[in-house]
Amino acid sequence: MSLQNHRAVIVGGTSGIGLATAKLFLSQGTQVIVASRSQERVDAAVKEIGTAQGYALDFQNESQMQQFFETIGDFDHLVVTAAGDATSHGLFGTLGIDVARAEFDSKFWGQYATVKAALPFIRESGSITLTSGAFAARPVKGASTVVALNSALEGLVRALAMDLAPIRVNAVSPGVVDTPVFSGMDAESRVVMFQKAAQTLLLQHVAKPEEIAEAYVYLAKNTYTTGSVLQVEGGAILSGI
Ligand SMILES: NC(=O)c1ccc[n+]([C@@H]2O[C@H](COP(=O)([O-])OP(=O)(O)OC[C@H]3O[C@@H](n4cnc5c(N)ncnc54)[C@H](OP(=O)(O)O)[C@@H]3O)[C@@H](O)[C@H]2O)c1
Repeated sequence: MSLQNHRAVIVGGTSGIGLATAKLFLSQGTQVIVASRSQERVDAAVKEIGTAQGYALDFQNESQMQQFFETIGDFDHLVVTAAGDATSHGLFGTLGIDVARAEFDSKFWGQYATVKAALPFIRESGSITLTSGAFAARPVKGASTVVALNSALEGLVRALAMDLAPIRVNAVSPGVVDTPVFSGMDAESRVVMFQKAAQTLLLQHVAKPEEIAEAYVYLAKNTYTTGSVLQVEGGAILSGI
């Protein structure tokens, strides 16, 4: 399928994987709308991308999401890459349940609320692509919340593929990607962390956001894929280190 003159909405499209995905959709001749919470980030992304439209909103807020989709009207492809920072690292039982709930409230319920609000406006020939993460398929110690919420998202994607057909519903599951989500770390620790991560991967490097963006464009284009999780993780699952 050509994406020329299609309309794509990318919630979380102002940074990292979402921003790279917005640029790649634009290169296909698609009209792109990006959204995230911070007006500053939205303005910066629109300036950087050039021809996209941008909106400030919180994907956890159902009424804001309804208003947003009513404003923009019918479109073809929904991509959701938004998520708050993961703060729940620690062996099970060492963190308060409120920390785990907050992370579900953002990444799981935010994606859920976005799809629910978007649904009346997505064309039947269109697609929905959500974002999980490689920990769902390859858990590591101390990441029970992230493992559980990405697994829940992948289950949701399979269920939505059943309920919403012929709209196609899939997920991209990234491995470690060099994005601003790690900007809270000092530069030196980030380099060390990426080097360590790279050594555990078959492909020996941490992903650039552009390497993940291709998966979202593929899932929007391919008319015969639904209910699937596309792993883009440099061989993390097979390497098993
Ligand atoms: N980077 C990795 O290594 C990695 C690995 C596995 C999975 N992932 C997943 O990939 C996705 C994208 O991650 P990324 O690394 O590209 O992150 P990022 O660079 O931090 O981008 C996250 C985006 O989400 C937006 N956002 C956050 N909370 C929001 C909210 N409540 N409402 C609306 N927008 C919100 C942010 O903008 P505002 O601040 O303006 O809201 C930003 O545009 C996430 O689901 C993440 O869990 C990433």
